[in-house]
Amino acid sequence: MLVSPSILSADFANLQRDVEMLNNSIADWIHVDIMDGSFVPNISFGLPVCEAVAKHAKKPLDVHLMIVNPEKYLDNFKKAGASHLSVHIEACPHLHRTVQQIKELGCKAGVAINPHTSINQLEDIITEIDLVILMSVNPGFGGQKFINQTVEKTEKLKNLIIQKNAKTLIEIDGGVNLETGKWLKNAGADALVAGNFVFASQSPGDVIKLLKAL
Ligand code: DX5
Ligand code: ZN
Repeated sequence: MLVSPSILSADFANLQRDVEMLNNSIADWIHVDIMDGSFVPNISFGLPVCEAVAKHAKKPLDVHLMIVNPEKYLDNFKKAGASHLSVHIEACPHLHRTVQQIKELGCKAGVAINPHTSINQLEDIITEIDLVILMSVNPGFGGQKFINQTVEKTEKLKNLIIQKNAKTLIEIDGGVNLETGKWLKNAGADALVAGNFVFASQSPGDVIKLLKAL
């Protein structure tokens, strides 16, 4: 299992310390949640913070853009250190073009879908992308309750990937803990984002180990 701890739940006044903790852990990626107060009802942080994280990070930055018009900022996020760039299907009327833009930048291309969005909408893009982020909460906040329906959606997405002979990874984002993580693993998830579960723990490094071993 790939594990991508979300720095949304880190201590922003001690970001370097928390990034170094992740460097010293067995986490695979560092999940960076960008929220614009328009696509989602919350504002997190933007390019300068992403750049500051990149300066210290020794793991790939898995950047999740919860913003409108993401195509305008892809280049900037690449320059700010992103190695994976995911955009929301709900924010992209020309998703195919946006995905090509991400790939031309040399980043892994991801598409995120909200809990109400059907897997069927990925049918004509799945072979073009490296990653799907299945939202298991409504995006905007850390620490929310996992939406159980995501387990079934994960199975459905796994079947689509097999059927299309695609190599796309399935990453689940929101409300992940050891219990939901196990269900998701069994359903076919390849990667788990974990914010609150990692950072609220007394021993984040051990929590990451437990998630990796699911
Ligand atoms: C939700 C974000 C998530 C969030 C996950 O809008 O996209 O990445 O940080 O946090 P937890 O694991 O606390 O649900
Ligand atoms: Zn996220």
